[in-house]
Amino acid sequence: MTAAEWYRRFADTEAAGQSALYETLARGVADDPALLTLLDELPRPKQQPNLLLACARLLGAPLSDFAAWRVWLLQHWPEVSAEMRIRATQTNEPRRCATLLPALALIDGPIALIEVGASAGLTLLPEHYSYAWGEHRLDPAAGPSTVLLECEVTGDPPLPARMPEIVWRAGLDLNPLDVTAPDDRHWLETLIWPEQTARLERVRAAIAIAERERPRVVRGDAVDDLPALAAEAPTGVTLVIVTSAAIVYLMPEPRARLIEWLRASPARWVSNEGAGIVPRVQEALAGHPPRRPGGFALALDERPLAYAGAHGQTLDWLSLPAA
Ligand SMILES: C[S@@+](CC[C@H](N)C(=O)[O-])C[C@H]1O[C@@H](n2cnc3c(N)ncnc32)[C@H](O)[C@@H]1O
Repeated sequence: MTAAEWYRRFADTEAAGQSALYETLARGVADDPALLTLLDELPRPKQQPNLLLACARLLGAPLSDFAAWRVWLLQHWPEVSAEMRIRATQTNEPRRCATLLPALALIDGPIALIEVGASAGLTLLPEHYSYAWGEHRLDPAAGPSTVLLECEVTGDPPLPARMPEIVWRAGLDLNPLDVTAPDDRHWLETLIWPEQTARLERVRAAIAIAERERPRVVRGDAVDDLPALAAEAPTGVTLVIVTSAAIVYLMPEPRARLIEWLRASPARWVSNEGAGIVPRVQEALAGHPPRRPGGFALALDERPLAYAGAHGQTLDWLSLPAA
């Protein structure tokens, strides 16, 4: 896929209906030979549309129209490209817990939870949020949360009546974000697309919960450091490893090694990744196309359970027969 195709696909399947501005900007980049030539200077993973849009915004790009944004970007390309080289998109979306929780509900607890690619740890705290899957509501034991995760559901998911019992948890990330550090909070907030004010409020409320709960996120690599972290989990409980919008960032060789390790591990593996990211999930989904574009495939131990909105906004349960 060329950079132009990547930006066009981002506009069509990710930004469309979510951020009119980012849709316009991404489409503008896709049709702009000068910007595409600049992007070509960067290593392939750093050409990511969301990374360009967030770094430009972080450094003060005007968020009005493509023409003004383009002029600013051409003037500030050295700073923007330097920022893109050192940063990665670390969007931490608590609403993804609304699609992860029905998968966790299929696993016998108590649970020791590890999230690979945990960013700031907001998705490590599922039992601290309130949920509304259509009419089905679930609140923390202590009462409704300041974070309400609303998710539109189709199909017949086993919506949980109780929160999972999580007795131990840890995240792993190349660059854990610290919710108490102003710069990290600012980056987390900048990663939310401009018009998404409800999402911004939700993330701010989740950050306040994380400030209180302080989920542990260890600095380390998904492949090299996961075995040691998994070995820290208590025995006598079910170890569950979650990957959510994380495996996509691994190059093919480490990606294959991580998947091999997860497959061989006794841990249960909940994956919430693009539908083409985990090969066995992709194979099992053949003949079961998504109802909507741009979503993730939710799977347990590589068995597809559902298509999930990339930000947890929808859950289309599949009920595929067991392989
Ligand atoms: C898009 S964020 C997803 C955060 C969270 N899982 C969620 O669903 O909201 C992806 C995270 O994966 C991390 N990451 C990327 N490559 C990694 C690797 N090789 N090892 C550990 N973490 C990695 C990034 O630093 C980033 O914080």
